Amino acid sequence: MTAERDHSAQASRPRSGAWFAAEARAGMIYRSWLRAEGFTPEVFDGRPVIGIANSWSELTPCNVHLRAVADAVKRGVWQAGGFPLEFPTMSLGESLMRPTAMLFRNLMAMEVEELVRANPLDGVVLLSGCDKTTPAMLMAAGSVDLPAIMVTGGPMLNGKYRGADVGSGTHVWRFEQELVAGRMTQEECVAAESGMARSCGHCMTMGTASTMACLAEALGMQLPGSAAWPAADSHRYVTAQSAGQRIVELVREDLRPSRIMTRPAFENAIRVNAAIGGSTNAIIHLLAIAGRLGVLLSLDDFDELARPVPTLVNLMPSGRYLMEDFCYAGGLPVVMRELADLLHNEHVGVTGNTLAETVAGAECWNRDVIASLDDPVQPAGSGTAVLRGNLCPGGAVVKQSAASPHLLKHRGQALVFDSIEDYHQVAGRDDLPVEASTILVVRGAGPKGYPGMPEIGNFVLPRKLLERGVTDMVRISDARMSGTGFGAVVLHVAPESAVGGPLAFVRSGDWIQLDVPARTLTLEVNDRELARRRAGWAPPPCSPGRGYARLYSEHVLQADQGADLDFLVGASGADVPRHNH
Ligand code: FES
Repeated sequence: MTAERDHSAQASRPRSGAWFAAEARAGMIYRSWLRAEGFTPEVFDGRPVIGIANSWSELTPCNVHLRAVADAVKRGVWQAGGFPLEFPTMSLGESLMRPTAMLFRNLMAMEVEELVRANPLDGVVLLSGCDKTTPAMLMAAGSVDLPAIMVTGGPMLNGKYRGADVGSGTHVWRFEQELVAGRMTQEECVAAESGMARSCGHCMTMGTASTMACLAEALGMQLPGSAAWPAADSHRYVTAQSAGQRIVELVREDLRPSRIMTRPAFENAIRVNAAIGGSTNAIIHLLAIAGRLGVLLSLDDFDELARPVPTLVNLMPSGRYLMEDFCYAGGLPVVMRELADLLHNEHVGVTGNTLAETVAGAECWNRDVIASLDDPVQPAGSGTAVLRGNLCPGGAVVKQSAASPHLLKHRGQALVFDSIEDYHQVAGRDDLPVEASTILVVRGAGPKGYPGMPEIGNFVLPRKLLERGVTDMVRISDARMSGTGFGAVVLHVAPESAVGGPLAFVRSGDWIQLDVPARTLTLEVNDRELARRRAGWAPPPCSPGRGYARLYSEHVLQADQGADLDFLVGASGADVPRHNH
């Protein structure tokens, strides 16, 4: 069923009425079983039934407080005259899951989509937090297209170690380099790790979780200011209760994700991502979410739309501060107000108001944290760049603001590894044939090849160079990078090596030219030689034998298409195909 037909059906009666409004046996079987939970009969009087999709899990520390957040959402739903029903979803803990949480993003999106559609829900509140949980839930919401509002769980409190701020993720990479270089002891690392995670909530750097929380807000899918309130702050629960109230109204107004996550909304999100110095992972996630809604979005949109946008937010990994500081400085509404000339201000999100109305009262309380357009943290065009060339015909990305400026234009000889494991085996050796000018190439880490496209693109530098004080090198891979990571790393090379992209044919000693200002990545090997290498190439045996990993590997799209499963692209609507009672 198309979204249009679905909208008119919703307007005539609540969707949940198909379960609860029927008389005699047809309605009794649904009502009576639910009354086993102790509800009074009024909950079936036709009021909106609101699902609260909860990705709470003790295996996802970033989301561990979401049961309490759900209670606040329920208060709001009851208050506004709705009937809340909380249900568990998959939860993807970035730090714990192997081989990589990204492998399961599409599985979670599929699960949430099916749960929302299969149950008697009129609208849904999406509770997310850790990196992949936010895009997975937005993908699901885009496909089912019932009224939805997101409440992300909020960041952890700022990390502290020896009196200084430390950022989750970002300082893990820094401390690792210090440890390998012998400038930090193991005991100091253990002491530092306890200061890095001081509360529940997701990473408090502008990593992928914070980025996606901000972009959910920029898309119009969560309430203004919601992205930045720390998980431990009472405002987190105020915003959750408000979201509970608002979802009931969204159902009554029939304001659905397909009317919120439009092309202008994605354009706003791309520009906001540039202004906040957001994660490169956002590119893959936004492409996947757009794909669910039939919104045409391409990799090149990210470069083109981001070029006029300066970096305004001074947060790690590109800058100095953390999410708590961002919140107290005014949060995302300040950024969106500052960007007014570059955004679609007429866009309407879950508030029901235009963006211009929504951010009209936003005030900045700390210009060191959120800079003005006139005096930005980094100039326009310093965000994530999209590269093209014979090494990446499908594109590649590099986060300029997180790279050493002197490496953005660099020519060097490749040192190639077929896997990250191969690299790790030799990275500590004194006889590794590597100089600071060498370009390190790691392949076999794309969506299909690993599988799951792990965050290994910012792999640690060879020990002997770290000991010499080298802090950055050009690294190229078909992998992703943690949103908390940094360095001159070229990521998401497409097509990946496992499907026969040119990355598969690079050999150690080949010259590679990286020219970020010109947006090119060139393997200095002529076409005839590349064709000869291709002819002698056989795909690696990378297909998992069974289960979800096999399904994923057989159907995953390349990074430049969002790495969704090919059969999940597009909307499905909220209609249940068969109804057997
Ligand atoms: Fe969950 Fe960083 S590990 S947000």
